[in-house]
Amino acid sequence: MGAANPLVLIFDSGIGGLTVFREIAKLRPDARYAYIADDARFPYGDLADEEMIARVCELVGTAIGRERPDCVVIACNTASTLVLPHLRAAYAMPFVGTVPAVKPAAALSRTQRISVLATPGTVRRDYTRELVASFAEGCRVELVGSAKLAALAEDELSGRLAPDAEILAEIAPCFRDDGGALTDVVVLGCTHYALLSARLTKLAPWPVTWLDPAPAIARRAAALLGNLPQPVAEARLDAAIAFTSDRKPAAALVAALRSAGLEMRNQQAAVAF
Ligand code: DGL
Repeated sequence: MGAANPLVLIFDSGIGGLTVFREIAKLRPDARYAYIADDARFPYGDLADEEMIARVCELVGTAIGRERPDCVVIACNTASTLVLPHLRAAYAMPFVGTVPAVKPAAALSRTQRISVLATPGTVRRDYTRELVASFAEGCRVELVGSAKLAALAEDELSGRLAPDAEILAEIAPCFRDDGGALTDVVVLGCTHYALLSARLTKLAPWPVTWLDPAPAIARRAAALLGNLPQPVAEARLDAAIAFTSDRKPAAALVAALRSAGLEMRNQQAAVAF
């Protein structure tokens, strides 16, 4: 049996972690959630490696010391593919990372043509290239680094919808016609992208499976938390989000977060939940 009302700490550079939070909350509505969005340094996609390691370790480390979570979910591919070993070496507690779902994509593809759509940082990591080398044997894998899509997803949730052409320009390189063998699976290698899933589906030059790893991440986190105590009383989610910048979030964003069950906490992640 797991702890009663365990605390899950969720970390992302922005609101992409919402896609992961929603899935975990479905499996563990009894848990408490503290979500830190490092919007002061968003996007992470082009952050230098050393800077990201230092920053994520400091923010997550401070939050661990303060909140004593039962489990930490790094809901960011760009950070997970680089920083997880450093966090695991520093803290003896369960971490769940988010990395591109290359193995399930390879298993799902019929044409053996898959694309990984991710930030430029995730695409250039050795970790990502090793995933492809280890788990996509026999597949042609296109690694597509998008400089803008995470920011467009943030805009969308803040009520500023990007023109179709801007989104299409970011996803177009994923679609390859390799002598009649078409890409049929696109891995969403950034947690922000599933926030745009309806638009991605609509704009795709042909139908593909957009592989969102959030449900699998949620299952992993739920397994680490142990069995769900039965029965779970119907109650409001106990979940809060704190941003690291002092910018005022758009009203549309606050409303979207609230409808997902996340209350805003004082800005500055240094402030306790
Ligand atoms: N949500 C993040 C990821 O999964 C990164 C977005 C960004 O900061 O560029 O990679």
